[in-house]
Amino acid sequence: MTRVCLTRHLPEPIMRRMGELFDVVHPKTDERPLTQKELLALAEGAEVLVPSLNDAITAEVINAIPSLKLIANFGAGVDHIDLAHAAKKNITVSNTPSVLTEDTADVAMALILAVPRRLGEAAQEIRTQSWTGWSPMHLLGHRVNGKTLGIIGMGRIGQAVARRAKGFGLSIHYHQRTPLHESVEQEFGATYHASLTALLQQSDIISLHCPHTLETHHLIGPEQFAFMKPTAYLINTARGTIVSEPALIHALSNGQIAGAGLDVYEHAPRVPDALRALPNTVLLPHVSSATIESRIEMGEKVLINIRSFVDGNTPPDVVLAD
Ligand code: 8YV
Repeated sequence: MTRVCLTRHLPEPIMRRMGELFDVVHPKTDERPLTQKELLALAEGAEVLVPSLNDAITAEVINAIPSLKLIANFGAGVDHIDLAHAAKKNITVSNTPSVLTEDTADVAMALILAVPRRLGEAAQEIRTQSWTGWSPMHLLGHRVNGKTLGIIGMGRIGQAVARRAKGFGLSIHYHQRTPLHESVEQEFGATYHASLTALLQQSDIISLHCPHTLETHHLIGPEQFAFMKPTAYLINTARGTIVSEPALIHALSNGQIAGAGLDVYEHAPRVPDALRALPNTVLLPHVSSATIESRIEMGEKVLINIRSFVDGNTPPDVVLAD
């Protein structure tokens, strides 16, 4: 039986099926991610490793598990895996795309609405019992309808956000390396910007939906904040490392932009005090794909990827190094 090492506990139906199909090892509890030492001890002799975004699958980790043949990631993003080294060692990598698209887009849309309307501050007033009653100028935010949404990365999730945003009366602009097919652009009435700067200059709300790669690391830094409107909002449900967090804090504190909605952080789960202290933010603890439906479907994808690999086929969600 193929030995499969899970670094976290997955939903019960997935754990059960994993146990029926494979020789599974997993941590005793699921209170926190494993340390590298714990991961290597658990993965000894495993042919398949099922990590998630908290596990840094570096060249060192890959080399320390000589039995490893497949890394079946539980998640879509693979920036925590050294893909080039895995390829060099002839280790296959797979992920779980598509199934978390709609849930992630829902949270991005929720932030697009929540930040300009100051819903974070508003909810806080009830919890802290500081609401003194209705007044004409109380907690005035800004209208979302009619504004320009700039999407960076019009892949599956970016497009799912565009579909929602169109329904909320936003006009859709986007930036990525290559424009979408004309028919897809027409579906959203989307305007392409080859230049990131031009997109930043025109957008009222900017939402990030690109993967974190060497190219997109700190894609949004001091220079980019300088191009944004002082009334602009930044939404990030992609990866914290796409934005320079010190530059973001500086932009939010100095009126360079008006607010931010974040589900991801540069050094998660650490969130700088300076960021937490800013009222013009809505801060979430990486919950964009946190629905039971997404997590079960992600688990099913992991099962299918492992099963096809064990049967001698290429996993349907194989990830190739650039
Ligand atoms: C996942 C995510 O839940 O899939 C991704 O890339 O960012 C998440 O929302 C997480 O990666 C699980 O590993």
